[in-house]
Amino acid sequence: MANAFTSTNKHQDKTILFIISGGISAYKTLDLIRAFKKDGLHCPAILTKGAQEFITPLSVSALSGYPVYTDLFSLKDEQEMGHIRLSREADLIVVVPASANMIAKTAYGMADDLAGAVLLASNKPVIFCPAMNPQMWANEATQDNLKTLKRRGIDIINPDTGLVACGETGEGRLPSVEDLYKAINEYLDIASYKPLSGYKALVTAGPTYEKIDPVRFIANRSSGKQGYAIAEKLAQYGADVDLISGPTALDCPAHVKRHDVESAADMLAMTEQHLPCDIAVFTAAVCDWRVENSSDQKLKKRDDQSAPSLTFAENADILKTISQHKTKRPNVVVGFAAETNDVLVHAQNKLVHKGCDMLVANQVGHEKCTFGSDDNEVYFITANDYAEHWGEKSKSEIADMLVRKVIAHLENQNALQHTGANITKLEA
Ligand code: CTP
Repeated sequence: MANAFTSTNKHQDKTILFIISGGISAYKTLDLIRAFKKDGLHCPAILTKGAQEFITPLSVSALSGYPVYTDLFSLKDEQEMGHIRLSREADLIVVVPASANMIAKTAYGMADDLAGAVLLASNKPVIFCPAMNPQMWANEATQDNLKTLKRRGIDIINPDTGLVACGETGEGRLPSVEDLYKAINEYLDIASYKPLSGYKALVTAGPTYEKIDPVRFIANRSSGKQGYAIAEKLAQYGADVDLISGPTALDCPAHVKRHDVESAADMLAMTEQHLPCDIAVFTAAVCDWRVENSSDQKLKKRDDQSAPSLTFAENADILKTISQHKTKRPNVVVGFAAETNDVLVHAQNKLVHKGCDMLVANQVGHEKCTFGSDDNEVYFITANDYAEHWGEKSKSEIADMLVRKVIAHLENQNALQHTGANITKLEA
C-alpha cells in the first residue's frame, strides 16, 4: 500500500532551496530533505545562525548531497554559488521551520544574513512553514507580519495545534514531515500547471459608488471577495490579470494588477482601457443608476425640512457592452447574476440578453445572503439552458471551478481553431 512518501517522481530534477531558521523542529527538515532527495529533486540548503544551534551544516549536507550555505560574507560560499544565483536557480524556496524572527525580518525586507539576502533577491515562489511558541504565533506582530508576506505572494503552511517543545499547548507546532511533504508536493503540482500562461484576463469586482455630493454616495453591499478569488485563480493558472475594482477592504491578490475605480462610468472606462483581452469575468455589483443631479457641494439640511430630490439615470451595462463589442470582444465572457427569485429563469435570460458565454447565478436577499461571506451557493449556466448546481462552496472553490470551466472553453475553442474557426489567442 502507498504511504505518504510514495514517490511519483513527478517533480524529478526540480530544485527546492530549503532555508532552515532557528527552532527545535529544525530536525524535521532533515527528513523532509531526505524525502525530496529520494524523489530525485535537488535540495540545496541555507542554515541561519539560529538553525546551527539545533542542527549542523554537516548533517544537512550529508543528506542533501549539496554544500550547505551559511554565511553572506563567506568568500568561499560566494565563489561557489553567489546568493543571487542561489535564489534564481531554485524552482521553489521553502523556509522551514520559519521562526517568528525570520518572518519579521522577511516582512521588513532585511538582508543582513544569507537567508534574508536570498529571499530579497528571489524571483521564485516562496513557502513559509512557521513554527514557534503559541503566544509568539498568536502575537499581533507575528500575525501582521504574516499578512504582509501573504500580500506579497508568499504561501504559508500554517502550524499544527498541540504540545510544543517549551511545554505549552496551542497553535505553533511544525506539521509532521508527512504533511509538509504532501503540502509542498501539492504546491509543486499547482505551480507547474499553467494552462493560461500567455492569456490576458480582466475581472471586474466589488461595488460601485455613485456620488450624491462630495460626502455622500449610493452603493451596495458587495464585498468583492468572489471577484478577487477569481482574479487570484486566473493568475495562479498563469494568466496576466487586470482586476478592475470598486472600493473594497480587500488586499490585491498576488501577481494581479489592480486598478481602483469608484463609479460605474469609471469602471467601464477602465475596462475598455484594458481591452483587448482573452478572458473577461464580470463579478462587479455595478450600480444600475447614477445620480443625474449630483452636487459638487455638500447638500445642506433645509429650513423647511424638505428632502432633496434626486434624479437617476441608467448606467451603461459594462458586461453587455464588452460582450457585444464589435472589434474587441474577449474570447470568453463570464457574467454573474444576483437574483432574489426565479434564479434560473432570470439568469438564462441575462446570459442571452447580455451575450456572455457563461454565467454564475446566485440567490440573494434570503437569510443565507452571500454579501461579505466566504461561502456561496451558485448555479453555473451556459447557452441552451444548460445549468449545473454547485451547492454551497467557498468562494475560492467556486473560483477554481469557474476558472477550470474557462480553461475547458478555451481548449474547445483552440480545438475548433485547428478546424479553421476564427479564434485567436492574444500575444502576451
Ligand atoms: N453588470 C455590468 N454593468 C452593469 C450592471 C451589471 O457589468 N451596469 C454585470 C454584473 O457585473 C453581472 C451581470 O451584469 O455580471 C448581472 O448583474 P445583475 O446586477 O445581476 O443584473 P442587472 O443586469 O443589473 O439586472 P437586474 O438588476 O435587473 O437584475
